Amino acid sequence: MKKYGVGVVGCGNISRTYLSNLTKKFSVVDVVGISDILPERSAAKSDEFGLHIMTTKEICACDDIEIVVNLTRPTEHYAVSKQALESGKHVWSEKMAAVTLEEADELAALAQSKGLIYAVAPDTFLGGGLQTCRNLVDAGMIGQPVTAHALVARGLFLVSPDPDNKRMTLSPGGGIPFDMGGYYLTALTTILGPVRRAAGAARVGPRSYQNVQHPNFGELAQLKTPTCMVGVLEFESGVLGTVTTSADSFMETCQLEIFGTEGTLLLPDPNRFGGPVRLIRRNYSSLTPYEIPLTHGYSDGCSRGIGVADMAWALQNGRLHRAVMGNHVFEIVHGIWRSGDSGQFTNLRPGGQRPAPLPSGHIEASVMEAALAL
Ligand SMILES: NC(=O)c1ccc[n+]([C@@H]2O[C@H](COP(=O)([O-])OP(=O)(O)OC[C@H]3O[C@@H](n4cnc5c(N)ncnc54)[C@H](O)[C@@H]3O)[C@@H](O)[C@H]2O)c1
Repeated sequence: MKKYGVGVVGCGNISRTYLSNLTKKFSVVDVVGISDILPERSAAKSDEFGLHIMTTKEICACDDIEIVVNLTRPTEHYAVSKQALESGKHVWSEKMAAVTLEEADELAALAQSKGLIYAVAPDTFLGGGLQTCRNLVDAGMIGQPVTAHALVARGLFLVSPDPDNKRMTLSPGGGIPFDMGGYYLTALTTILGPVRRAAGAARVGPRSYQNVQHPNFGELAQLKTPTCMVGVLEFESGVLGTVTTSADSFMETCQLEIFGTEGTLLLPDPNRFGGPVRLIRRNYSSLTPYEIPLTHGYSDGCSRGIGVADMAWALQNGRLHRAVMGNHVFEIVHGIWRSGDSGQFTNLRPGGQRPAPLPSGHIEASVMEAALAL
């Protein structure tokens, strides 16, 4: 079996999870080198995982690297992904693709013109929880899906005492509709297919720092990214949905539900890989949800990097990779935001794809990766 050489760009917070999984969990990839513009960060990850430190330029020029994993922040995604694609590398980018739709479109067109894969996180939809949900809906367990409801509310961003975290989530491309909305919209489009049009409104405005430990406590932050967005979704299938993302709340809530003619599916947190998956069926004696045993693997802990492994297996076996919704989901968020300004529904471009499901039953650790190979 061929192993695909991977270069990881960006050794910040999430890189530990990726590097741990890419070096230990997935046999189809081999991490050849890592880079960061802050040398102390690449040095720390090199020490921890025994990996070779390179510059981003060296990663892009390296013949042993076929896939670049872009773990920089949203404002940096475009430049790094473009550099990698222009160098002939397949790209896995953390969410979201870029800051503007034009940048994301340019990256997708560049990849297509070069016959390269360009895929965008999240990959939590490949976890056991959401794949089980997909399996249940495909099997007709809720009948015909009719409506869907997604809600994530947080109050973390301006509360964080960490100026670095503050910068990303308050920067263009990093607000909660982009940062967290992507998980919910990826889950819904995986299960229900693409969205035809979207409407809604977003709030972008000054917020004050609320944590007394924050160096800017009490000051107003001028934001260029929404901290709150409410959207209406009309799926191509006819399903109607709502999505609410708010960082202006004081508590953390996560709801994701699909209502069908025969049942209701209560989905797990789409920022995670496991369950619980709960189902209420028409004609059950009780409306108490049943917890359904998961039908798919990769449900324990955090399997970020599974999308990279899926890409490598796709290359190995000549099939389509599964993380195909990134730019469509990005367009949905921008479409809702634009709708608030225009007062009109935003028609989304056709061509959004629903990825192939993973085959069920590969639950034991020893056989999980076989599901990705198919
Ligand atoms: N932190 C999390 O829990 C988390 C979870 C899931 C996804 N993500 C996503 O992962 C991405 C990164 O998040 P993070 O929290 O790790 O950010 P981070 O700021 O901790 O890390 C980003 C790193 O990229 C480096 N960098 C920037 N430009 C570079 C370049 N041109 N070449 C090399 N390195 C460069 C920075 O120096 C920094 O170390 C974001 O898109 C975020 O949405 C983060």
